[in-house]
Amino acid sequence: MSKRRRLIAGNWKMNKTTSEARDYAMAFLEKVGDVTDLDMVICAPFTALAVLKEELEESIVHIGAQNMYHEAKGAFTGEISAEMLKDLACTYVILGHSERREYLKEDDELIAKKVKAALEAGLTPILCVGENLTLREAGKALAFVRGQVEKDLVDLQPAELRKVVIAYEPIWAIGTGKTASAEDAQEMCSAIRSTLAGIAGAVAQEIRILYGGSVKPGNIAELVAQPDIDGALVGGASLEASEFAQIIQNAR
Ligand code: 13P
Repeated sequence: MSKRRRLIAGNWKMNKTTSEARDYAMAFLEKVGDVTDLDMVICAPFTALAVLKEELEESIVHIGAQNMYHEAKGAFTGEISAEMLKDLACTYVILGHSERREYLKEDDELIAKKVKAALEAGLTPILCVGENLTLREAGKALAFVRGQVEKDLVDLQPAELRKVVIAYEPIWAIGTGKTASAEDAQEMCSAIRSTLAGIAGAVAQEIRILYGGSVKPGNIAELVAQPDIDGALVGGASLEASEFAQIIQNAR
């Protein structure tokens, strides 16, 4: 048994108004309010965070954002700082999601700055990595993802690395209904852990690695049964409170 505590995170992406977020939070808490054997986090759009703070701050469900900027304050129009997220009771922040890498052109250098800034502010970064189908079919997935991990965690001390969460999300499995097989996901998560061992030594055994990509109530149990998969980052199936609660129950 691993001593790492499981973590199930929902990524709402660009979904839900404030009233939808409130309804969800109330329904979700009714279903999972007594779950204490794993960590749960909902990563909501910035605009829903104040409502989640009202509904969830005193609960066991953690609140996360989906992005932040690495600078503390100043002339960065449209950006949000770590302190602003903390003010809204956020304790987690997704960084380097493949959708931001692709559509917003975020590169490893920028993502590394964000990871460092999040850690310095005391937020837990959920760093997303993962290959596209071309890289997978070319047999280059392992090397590519290892490279992402090394570049995005550059210049961090083992004590800081201990707090990072990695989410392995193969791009070809996101929103496609095509989950990586538990074996393929385990192979990659194990490779990620050995990369982490190269940069952080024994601390690698404490770092949580999640799988993401078409996670559903029906496949979560097999995924978290793998030795190096410590939970999941769930997109589409986190949008309904009852379905996300079922994933959490099936991950215990
Ligand atoms: P889906 O669960 O919708 O495939 O999304 C995965 C994801 O990108 C979570 O960050």
